[in-house]
Order: sequence, then structure tokens, then C-alpha cells
Amino acid sequence: FCGGSLGIGLSFSIGLALAARLDGRDHRVYTIIGDGESNEGQIWEAAMTAAKYKVDNLTAILDRNYIQQDSYTEEIMPLESMHEGDAHGAGRKWRSFGWNVIEVDGHNIGELDGALRCARSTRGVPSVIIANTIKGKGVEHMENNPRWHGKAADPDMVPVIHEEIDCQSVVAPSIIAGDLSNLEGEVARSAEGGADCIHLDVMDGIFVPASTFDHEKIKELRPITSIPFDTHLMIDEPVRKIKQYAEAGSDIVTVHAEVCDESSFGEIHDYLHQNMIGVGLAINPDTDLPGWSARFLPTLDQVIVMSVVPGRSGQAYIEAVHQKTARLVSGMREGGFEGTIEADGGVTPANVAGCFADGARAFVGGSAIVGQPDIRAAINEFRTNILLARRRMLLQRAFKLGGASLVAGWIALHADEDTRAVLERLAAEAGLR
Ligand code: DX5
Ligand code: ZN
Repeated sequence: FCGGSLGIGLSFSIGLALAARLDGRDHRVYTIIGDGESNEGQIWEAAMTAAKYKVDNLTAILDRNYIQQDSYTEEIMPLESMHEGDAHGAGRKWRSFGWNVIEVDGHNIGELDGALRCARSTRGVPSVIIANTIKGKGVEHMENNPRWHGKAADPDMVPVIHEEIDCQSVVAPSIIAGDLSNLEGEVARSAEGGADCIHLDVMDGIFVPASTFDHEKIKELRPITSIPFDTHLMIDEPVRKIKQYAEAGSDIVTVHAEVCDESSFGEIHDYLHQNMIGVGLAINPDTDLPGWSARFLPTLDQVIVMSVVPGRSGQAYIEAVHQKTARLVSGMREGGFEGTIEADGGVTPANVAGCFADGARAFVGGSAIVGQPDIRAAINEFRTNILLARRRMLLQRAFKLGGASLVAGWIALHADEDTRAVLERLAAEAGLR
């Protein structure tokens, strides 16, 4: 039911939820409301009604992106309380109307999943999930820019924008580069440092000489953060252990092609997918993608292209892997692969742009991140260099599509003057102006 932005969706939803209760049906009703839409008095009448009738078979999701039709919500009609710096005013309002409030990063699927489960198990009160989001996320010139509320992009720019959306990247600290006697602390430090996911290097002393930890440890680490666990199994016969690693709380499990064949990897692939867990395949520097992997490419979530010989952190990036990754990416895309290429081993702020240019979109940092005293600074350095590489790539794409004039048009889209200056410099350096 599309109630438009006039605030009637929540009332309609409450009606559905109450009707379900009258009919003795165990429906759960979900409704999405906007923060701009919350200017409508009907939202607050509905909020009172849901609380009065204890409508606990309803989950509202407030898309909190601070932008509405013609400006920022806080300029038009503030949802936050007027006290300076009260960053959770919207939540306070909904609580004061008698709702269960769960506040999450609206781009973090793990957090959203947890919030939806929490709302479903809450009795006696309606629940609202405040999903903090960035409007236009993933497209630099659109992010947080009210100008793009309900406005279509210039058709000439669409291919560049599509490519930019495909550039979403993740930085994954590898905790074995830290204090192995305090992995809990390293997970917490990585989460606080802004990690997009946590890279867990499991080594069994058979597939690689070293041993690190196993699924029992992952179980202990899981409650520390909702940030996805990117489990990299450097173990022999992974098909025999996949169940434990899935149950331990991994969000994606990657196994090595060197210790699989089509049948065992097929079992791993099917088991993980049935349990809503990502499936990854890793190859060593001197290994190519095995022929049997072709049939899995369309449903593979990740391929780890190792750039060091697996077994420990702190090794130097093997330069030949740049060319290998670039070669693999085009072949895999033709084979229907839509997942993520992860660069793992010896990745540093100095070579991460090269890994991005090769086609990697997930970047593991062991000694370059967890091995550093300030993880947040290290992750930000990775992100800065990834952003520069992305900007260079998009300028090249604009040039290929429409020459210097499209490059100029692309740069002009960016409202921020400093950003335009950087783009102008990058374009000049690449001879695109
Ligand atoms: C190596 C592991 C890597 C390693 C990364 O066997 O798979 O994840 O820990 O650490 P650095 O970034 O220091 O190579
Ligand atoms: Zn790894």
C-alpha cells in the first residue's frame, strides 16, 4: 500500500494490524515512514493510537536521512529536540508516545536484521526502527544533497553513476595481525575503528603450518559486534567443518579451492546458502580459479585472491597478483560472477588503490590496520586512497563516454568546492581536460 508522503501509511498499517488481531490472524504488518513525512500530524495521531491499543504486531521503520522535498528536515520542521546536540531526539519522541524504539545504521543489514527480530519479539507495545541512512548513498555527488530528492540523473551520466554504485568497497581488518592472546580486544578495537567487516583468519596447522583459532573462538567473538564476520578458512577438508563455522556466527565463509573439488565445494556452497550465509572461494597466489568453479560463479558471494602465501600476516604483497586479479575479474564477470573480489595479504595504503583498480572491492588489512596503534586512522587512510582510485576510474569512464565535456559535466555535479578541485586535479593529471 503506497500512502505517499502524506502520513496515511502508518494509520492504514495500524488498521491492518488491528483487523488481523480481530480475525485472530498472526500477521505482522511492516510500514516505512519518512522523517520528512513525520511533519504530518496524522503520523503522531497514529503513534498515539498504536500505543493505546498495544499494537505489537506492527513494525514501523523510519528512514532517517534528514532530507525532505525541499531541504533538510531539521531546517523545515525539526524532529530532533531543540536541545543542541541531542542526536537521538527522534527516538525520544517515539518513546514518549509509548513505542519500543530501536536505532540502527540503516545501511547495515546485520543491524537491521537484529532490529527486525527484536521488534518481532517485543510484546505489548508497537516498535519503530529508526534506520539512520544517507540519502543517495554510494553516489558521491548525491549523498546528503537535497537537490537529488526525487530528481532523476542526466541520462548521459547514468552509466557513470551505475559504475560508481558498483564501487561500494569494504575494509576488513584481519585480527590475527594484533594480539592473538586478546582477540576479543582486537575485534572491539576494529569495530570501534570503523571496520566494515572483521576478517577472521582460521588456520589449522595442516593446510598452513600456523594455527590460530577455530569455530569455538568465533562463537565467543560473535556477541562483541553486529559487524559482519568475514571468515577465511585456511583449513584442510573444510567440508567436514563447515557446519560449525556457519553456526559460530560467520556472515560469510570462504574456503580454499586447493582443498576442495566440485563435489565438496558444492556441498559447502549449498549448505551455506541454505543457511543465509555468504559463500566465498579463495585461491593462493600460484593457483588459478579451478575449472569446476565456473558453475558456482553466478551464486558465489566472494572470491579471495590471495596476494601472499597464506599462513601469517605481515608479508609483502606479491606484485604479480595485480595482473592476475585484473585478468580474473573480467573472466569471472563474463562467467556471471556478481560478488566481491577480496584482496587479502600485504594490502597497505600504498597499494590499495592498485588493488581497487584491479577490480577488488574488499580489502583485508592485517599489519597495515590491526598492526597499527590507531586502527581508525589506518582504515581512514585505506578509504581515502580507495576514494581517490574510484574518482580516477569514474573520470576515465566519463571521458570514454563523452570526452572532456562529459568529464567537465561530471565534475560540475559535485556541489562541494574542495571535491571539485580534487576532481579537476585528477582529471588534469590523467589528461582528461
Ligand atoms: C594470510 C591471511 C591474511 C593476513 C592479512 O594467510 O589470510 O588475511 O592475515 O594480513 P596482512 O594484511 O598483514 O598481510
Ligand atoms: Zn585472510
